[in-house]
Amino acid sequence: MDYQNAKVRETAELLKQRYGELETKADILKAVELRALYAEIPQLPAEERAGFGQEINALKNELQQLIDEHQEQAEALPPIDITAPFDVNVPAGERPQLLPSETGSVHPLMREREIILDIFYRMGFAASESREIDDDYHMFSALNFPEDHPARDDYDTFMTTQTDANGKRFIAPAHTSTMQNRLLKQYAPGLEKGEPIAVVVPDRVFRNEDLDARHEHTFYQLEGIYVGKGVHAGMLIATLKTFLQEYYGKELDVKTQPFYFPFTEPSFEFALSCPFCDKKGCSVCSQSGWIELLGCGMIHPNVLKEAGIDPETYTGFAWGCGIDRLVMMKYAIEDVRHFESANLTFLRQF
Ligand code: DAH
Repeated sequence: MDYQNAKVRETAELLKQRYGELETKADILKAVELRALYAEIPQLPAEERAGFGQEINALKNELQQLIDEHQEQAEALPPIDITAPFDVNVPAGERPQLLPSETGSVHPLMREREIILDIFYRMGFAASESREIDDDYHMFSALNFPEDHPARDDYDTFMTTQTDANGKRFIAPAHTSTMQNRLLKQYAPGLEKGEPIAVVVPDRVFRNEDLDARHEHTFYQLEGIYVGKGVHAGMLIATLKTFLQEYYGKELDVKTQPFYFPFTEPSFEFALSCPFCDKKGCSVCSQSGWIELLGCGMIHPNVLKEAGIDPETYTGFAWGCGIDRLVMMKYAIEDVRHFESANLTFLRQF
């Protein structure tokens, strides 16, 4: 509202600011400043009185409207302390409640994660969780990143100011590979009994990215490791191809090209034929027919050694794949930011 009169304009600004801080919103109508404006009317020259009075009334209406809106919101969402203890003898319908669950649904990423895990369970993999805060050792050193190596800069990590026993900052993990060392150690005893290590880690990772339709600060990765006797790159490709064909429900072509990761040797970039257009070219694959999906390779001997596994006896493969990307391709979702946006119009489609 634009007020002509400077005094009314000033009072309006002052009262609106105070309104924001008031516990009982209706009290704003009792403000002395508002009453002072009314008191001024009789002092004014007769010809100014009507205009001045109209402006004060307009201000009063504006404030009343704010109060009404606030009241409506308060009625729509009664504040509830869901942690408060309640008397178990209170009838069920009268106990504190969360918002009705029938209008909620499972988040698409969580639903797809179950589908993905189910495929890997059927292929004999176990699943493990990652962490939401980790240390420099698991993020880098255990994965054969030399100290001060530029490859560390490829991962735009978030770090804490607090440091660990080695004086290194804690890190919000930028990949699920942080779990490799722990899982290799955990499952190593089975190797001697002839049980290969086969684990996937579908969990949340964080990167200090410039955000756009393909980059999000928080997303999900699916890490996989497989270690045993005589494991070779052909098995890696077959495992990933089998998984992807099962997930997209169709025959796919895959191809690899050389790449670099410190924790695999050799390392590959793994591409699949576009499940949307079957290599004809479409917007999902930027008209190329192929989609570069993930990084993978044969686990570097140093990574196995660091976990106490003899690389002369055992070999293994590993991969890391963005779950968000898998899901985006399945449903032609054009912007990764939808997932973390809490936008109900997006979420209700799933
Ligand atoms: N951690 C890698 C990344 O986030 C992806 C990756 C590549 C994981 C190769 C692996 C691997 O396990 O073997 O960029």
